[in-house]
Amino acid sequence: MNKHLKWWGRILGVLFGLVLTLVLGLYGLGQFRLNRAYTITPDLLELPEDRGSLLEGQRIFRYRGCEACHGEDLQGLVYLDNPAIGQVITPNLTAGTGGIGGERSDLDLVRAIRHGLDPDGKPLLFMPSTEFYYLSERDLAAVLAYIRTKQPADNLPAPSQLSPTGFIIMNLTREITFLPAELIPHDTLPPAPPEPGLSAEYGEYLALSCPVCHGLGLSGGEIPGFPPEWPAAGNLTTGSGSRISAWGEEGFVDILQEGEKHGRAIHPDYMPWTSYRYMTDLELRAVYAYLLSLEPRDFGQH
Ligand code: HEC
Ligand code: HEC
Repeated sequence: MNKHLKWWGRILGVLFGLVLTLVLGLYGLGQFRLNRAYTITPDLLELPEDRGSLLEGQRIFRYRGCEACHGEDLQGLVYLDNPAIGQVITPNLTAGTGGIGGERSDLDLVRAIRHGLDPDGKPLLFMPSTEFYYLSERDLAAVLAYIRTKQPADNLPAPSQLSPTGFIIMNLTREITFLPAELIPHDTLPPAPPEPGLSAEYGEYLALSCPVCHGLGLSGGEIPGFPPEWPAAGNLTTGSGSRISAWGEEGFVDILQEGEKHGRAIHPDYMPWTSYRYMTDLELRAVYAYLLSLEPRDFGQH
């Protein structure tokens, strides 16, 4: 009896040691990934100063979702607060008290937006630069000019901080990307952006954020990494279960600008049409042309 207990004790001890080693290893790997510095020197952009470009910068800041995550006054918001992962908070982008605007050079901002890196070259948490890497020089310059001329807001958001389990979870999940910088081909220039206009190519450029929730093939389904009580994202191709063709171009523009069409209301807490409504009719028609050009997939068939 005693002998058996002794053996079990040893086995448990070894198992515990293995688990502890694994946990510490994953934690260390998380620390390493978050503190790894990338050396990138982006090209300098010339910022426009005319009023039209500043308004355009604001519009792009809105429809690209920057405002939803950074706040209307660019003052910073809590993006994620979950004990298992930690706190992720967007900085105050203005030059007000507590803002980073006064400390960052234009190059620092380009490095953050296009490459997802802080001024030391370390990866930012959850800042979706995998999309903004593709921004045209003109769009990026307008956004920068808008940020630079924004009225200073006084707010000092706490720094982002992963919890100990957050450092472990970031290595175990494949569905959500904690560090978008790791997925960006930093040494390669992005492909030339399409000319603005009513084309599927320009629509694709405008729709860079849709796959995050609607899936890589845009066929919709449950959104990976999001709470299970969220509604499924719709099928944006013309395959089975899709409403896209039935709505027609006009209906599609309406639903993205007003959140409602033919009695179907989409909830802005889950589907950020309150950002997309800042696209012009022409831009939304280009997005529609892009969706129609996709291979039809059945609902949820990525
Ligand atoms: C999904 C939410 C989200 C969206 C959309 C988003 N950001 Fe961010 N951004 C973040 C988070 C979170 C951080 C802070 C990350 C951290 O603390 O590691 C951040 C950080 C930044 C920084 C600061 C980098 C530094 O120097 O510390 C800049 C500049 C920035 N974002 C600009 C933008 C712009 C411009 C856009 C739109 C083109 C945008 N962001 C869209 C979440 C977002
Ligand atoms: C943050 C996640 C998220 C992003 C990003 C997102 N969507 Fe959605 N979308 C959803 C969810 C969730 C629904 C379902 C909402 C509901 O049922 O209330 C939805 C629904 C829709 C619908 C209605 C579909 C139907 O069949 O009723 C359309 C159209 C749509 N999205 C288009 C887009 C386009 C275009 C983009 C990119 C420009 C986009 N979405 C980006 C989450 C998202």
